[in-house]
Formats: sequence, C-alpha cells, structure tokens
Amino acid sequence: MSNPSGIATAAHPLPSYLDPQHLGPWGIYLQQVDRVTPYLGSLARWVETLKRPKRALIVDVPIELDNGTIAHFEGYRVQHNLSRGPGKGGVRFHQDVTLSEVMALSAWMSVKNAAVNVPYGGAKGGIRVDPRTLSTGELERLTRRYTSEIGLLIGPTKDIPAPDVNTNGQIMAWMMDTYSMNVGATATGVVTGKPVDIGGSLGRVEATGRGVFTVGVEAAKLTGLAIEGARVAVQGFGNVGGTAGKLFAEAGAKVVAVQDHTGTVYNASGLDVPALLAHVKAQGGVGGFAGGERMAPEEFWGVACDILIPAALEGQITKDNASRIQARMVIEGANGPTTPEADDILNDKGVLVLPDVIANAGGVTVSYFEWVQDFSSFFWTEDEINARLVHIMQNAFAAIWQVAQENKVSLRTATFIVACKRILHAREVRGLYP
Ligand SMILES: NC(=O)c1ccc[n+]([C@@H]2O[C@H](COP(=O)([O-])OP(=O)(O)OC[C@H]3O[C@@H](n4cnc5c(N)ncnc54)[C@H](O)[C@@H]3O)[C@@H](O)[C@H]2O)c1
Repeated sequence: MSNPSGIATAAHPLPSYLDPQHLGPWGIYLQQVDRVTPYLGSLARWVETLKRPKRALIVDVPIELDNGTIAHFEGYRVQHNLSRGPGKGGVRFHQDVTLSEVMALSAWMSVKNAAVNVPYGGAKGGIRVDPRTLSTGELERLTRRYTSEIGLLIGPTKDIPAPDVNTNGQIMAWMMDTYSMNVGATATGVVTGKPVDIGGSLGRVEATGRGVFTVGVEAAKLTGLAIEGARVAVQGFGNVGGTAGKLFAEAGAKVVAVQDHTGTVYNASGLDVPALLAHVKAQGGVGGFAGGERMAPEEFWGVACDILIPAALEGQITKDNASRIQARMVIEGANGPTTPEADDILNDKGVLVLPDVIANAGGVTVSYFEWVQDFSSFFWTEDEINARLVHIMQNAFAAIWQVAQENKVSLRTATFIVACKRILHAREVRGLYP
C-alpha cells in the first residue's frame, strides 16, 4: 500500500548513499516499481536496474554575487537509465531540490520516454536555489557554471537537458552557448526548449498542454464522456494548464474553475478562457479576473466538474482532498501531483486518473522533434509538428489503455508496465558489459 513518507517498507537493498528513513520522492518511485514487478515476466530478473540510477553527479556551483561576495549552490545531474538512448530530462532551479527528488524525476523521465517510445533514457538535473533571489546577471553566471560543471556528462549524443520548474528558453540558450564555447563549436542539440531562433522547435511551448488535451480526448471517447459541454477545472494556468484549458475550451468544453498562486476563479457557465489568458498575461495570475466569482482555495478540489487537470505543483491531490473530488477524470499535467494515498482513494471512487508519465509526455515528445531537427538542420512546420505529436500521443495512450484493460490495473501501473518492459528489454538485448 501507499507510503507517502517515502520510507522503504519492502526489502529494498539501497545504495549506501541513501538513508532508508528519509527516502523522499525516490521512495515513492520505488513503490511504483514494486507495483509493476509482478507484470514484468522474465524481464523481472533485471528489475534492480530500475532501482538504481546509473550515475548521480553532485557539483558545487560557486558564483560571485553582484555585491562582491561568493555564494555556493548545490547542483545535480542524474542519469537514471541509458539503455534506450541518451539521457533526456529537464533542469529545475528550486530551493527544495534534493538528490532524492532529482533521482525520482530522472527515473520518471526514463518511464515517460519509454512510454511514448522516443529513443531516450531518463535524466534530470537541478540546482538548489530560489532563482527569484538572483539578479539576471547572477542567474546567467549560475547557469553557465552549472553547465560547465556537468559538462562531463551532457552532450547531444549523451544527455540532453531541457527546461523544468523555474528554467526557460533563456536559460537553455545560456546552457547551449556555454557548452558550445567549451567544445569549440555551436552544438544546438545539447539542450531542447531553446528559443526558435537558435534551433528551438515551433510548437514546443504548447506541446505539453496539447498532449494533456490529446490523451484527455482519447480517454473521453473510451469512457463515453462528451467533450462538448464537459466541465473542466484546472489548477495552474501557466504553460501546461493555460494551453490545456484553451484547447478544451476550443473543443466546446466549459472551463468552470481555475486556480493558481494568485487565487481561484469560478463560473458555472464557463470562464471566457481567451480573456482569462489575457488577464494572466497582464496581471501575472488569475486573481482579480472579473469574469467569474472568487472561490476559497480549498473549495477548488470539491468543485462540480467532469475533468480535473492539476497542472501546477507536486503533491496537490492528497488524502485530505481526494475524497471531495467530483470529477470523472483527472489528467495529470504536473509531475507527481497525486500522492500514492490519494491515488488509491481516487481509484476506489472510480475516478479515472491519466498519470503524468503519459499525460504530460507531449513536452518531451516535441523536445525529441527539436533534437532531430537540430541534427538535420532542417526545420518542420508547426502543423507537421502538431500532427506528429498527436499521432504519437494517441498511439501511446491506446497501447497503455489496452494493457490496463488486459491486466485490470490502473493507467499508472499500465504505463509503468509498457515502459519498464521496453527499458529492461533494451537492457537484456544489449547485454551486460563487459
Ligand atoms: N512545461 C512543460 O513542458 C512541462 C512538461 C512536463 C511537465 N510539466 C510540469 O507541469 C507543471 C507546470 O509546469 P508549467 O511549465 O506549466 O509551469 P508554469 O510556471 O508555466 O505554470 C505554473 C502554474 O502553477 C501555478 N501555481 C504555482 N504555485 C501554485 C499554488 N501554490 N497553487 C496553485 N497554483 C500554483 C502558477 O500560478 C502557474 O499558473 C510542473 O509540475 C511541471 O514539472 C511541465
């Protein structure tokens, strides 16, 4: 059963650098591996591979602050598994980043990349810093020094970072430039999520939200839920939630509630999504939007709706609010928004959860397109990119749905079955070196 503290309950032989009492997000990931192990057949003999990251690099990132003092930050890059290809995964700048979190996020990238069958392993990076406390110059120096420090691991054919929480196209541009300076040649393919003018891809900004919408539509078809008129509630109205909300509204759904860090707005007849997006752009959040009523933050989870899209932070749907959720379907736009306990409550209530490892995989899918375009120096149109994205997401979701039906398991476990089999099969056919 679930174990939100992340403490290892099963007899996991842990690497010595992990403390069994304080496993954090890595402990949640290990529970997910335990749930999938009975379905791996003969590949189960390789399962220990999934429980240890291939490499974890911890770096000191010193920079000179604008006031002349020297500050040191902890940086990480973890490559969880490279059996299917180079590492791929974002870089997070956040004051709560830990080795355990980066390890778990890198493992979820292995699963996500295998679930949509892009030829990547899983990796993730981060710096333990609140970037809002830094000036632009300090942020650039931090990014460049970090990139240099992890330079022995990353590269277009080795490990390709991308944006994550608090990192963006500008930071990817500095990373690409720093790596290029160090190797002596412009290497656009070392990171994805770059600005379009320096090898970025059209469609990348909207890709994750478009993927959320695509799997939502597929699941709605399979469960007899009409998108036209469906009531949608979205937490987080940034890149992922804003795009998903816009696409659902364009398809005829009613976005009845939106919550972000500035407030919660509600309108039973449907919020005017383009007007709300314009308000967020101008004001920095949904708070103060005139086209809806204000709602107390905790009421958001009990709002009458058909589809709920958590697209903000981790750990939002918990044992304390899961039983109040009225939606028929939860689509995880954010990474890790549902705790394992809440997952079980939703499952018992018959709420269909489309898990992050497939629902938000649209971002890495278009990152893959960006990398392919950079290698060939030939760029595709936005229509081509969107069509290929939808095709990949639909096929991946159909395969996972079938595995869930056949094994009578949740879509999360089904995604892990599909992905872990692909990862371990790659390991098996490659063989163990030496
Ligand atoms: N951008 C991508 O391509 C991508 C890909 C995969 C997963 N994700 C995940 O999706 C999530 C959102 O990412 P994003 O790129 O949209 O970020 P973003 O910064 O564009 O938007 C984040 C949103 O969350 C809201 N938010 C922050 N704190 C909140 C709080 N306490 N309560 C309610 N809302 C809050 C913000 O107001 C904002 O609307 C993250 O978990 C991220 O890891 C993003």
